[in-house]
Amino acid sequence: MEDVPYNHQQPASHFEYVVNTKEAPVIKGAEAIRVKEQALALMGQMMGWCSEAKGAVLVDLILKNRPSVVVEIGVWGGKSVVPMAYALKVNGKGKIYGIDPWSSYESIQGIMNEDNKHFWQWADHKIVMDGLIEKIDQFDLNDQVELIRDTSEGAAPIYEIDILHVDGNHSDEPSYLDVTKWVPLVKSGGMIIFDDMTWYENNVFTTSRAVKWLDEHCIKFAEFSDTCVWGIWIKP
Ligand SMILES: C[S@@+](CC[C@H](N)C(=O)[O-])C[C@H]1O[C@@H](n2cnc3c(N)ncnc32)[C@H](O)[C@@H]1O
Repeated sequence: MEDVPYNHQQPASHFEYVVNTKEAPVIKGAEAIRVKEQALALMGQMMGWCSEAKGAVLVDLILKNRPSVVVEIGVWGGKSVVPMAYALKVNGKGKIYGIDPWSSYESIQGIMNEDNKHFWQWADHKIVMDGLIEKIDQFDLNDQVELIRDTSEGAAPIYEIDILHVDGNHSDEPSYLDVTKWVPLVKSGGMIIFDDMTWYENNVFTTSRAVKWLDEHCIKFAEFSDTCVWGIWIKP
């Protein structure tokens, strides 16, 4: 591999490069497939929106890069936290910090679309959080997951982040705050995964200011389109 950790000349869709960049994974071949299947099986039991395709990529990133510190902004029922936590457990190292206020009041901040507002206003955040806590226990992932019940803005900074997954409130102000507060805490060479790059409400792309900031301050590495459009950036 070249002396630079990532080849920035690769086309954005060239994901294969990601999975070959760092140290060789401890698990390989059939065992790696089994681990991924198990991670996705756990994910299937969780509430949330993470697609299987995205879950598979998140698991790959963790198995291949063997991070110590992973942070997720916006956890909901744990559909993206749990597969990542399982991959950390298989690695035998690393922790994922899941930051979410689980609060209707916070979830509706900045929302312009009435249907979306209605959903978040009436969704029982506490029941979803409690369900996640129970599953983390059941899956024996307490050593890998630390839930922080706070907003992205209020949570204490976590330093030396290897992987940051941003999937919180998709309105303009909160999503912009998510990247401007948390991306500076990502290590050089670390990865940022940003969900719902094209979130659209009342004729406005609400996450576009956050995505523009990421494009200007990080290196866009890959973009995926499945149940939503999401991307990976590298911290310079
Ligand atoms: C789209 S959901 C997260 C989905 C989850 N990552 C998944 O893959 O299923 C958005 C989450 O952001 C949380 N949220 C709302 N406002 C927030 C804030 N200011 N800071 C952090 N999280 C917030 C909500 O409680 C909700 O759980």
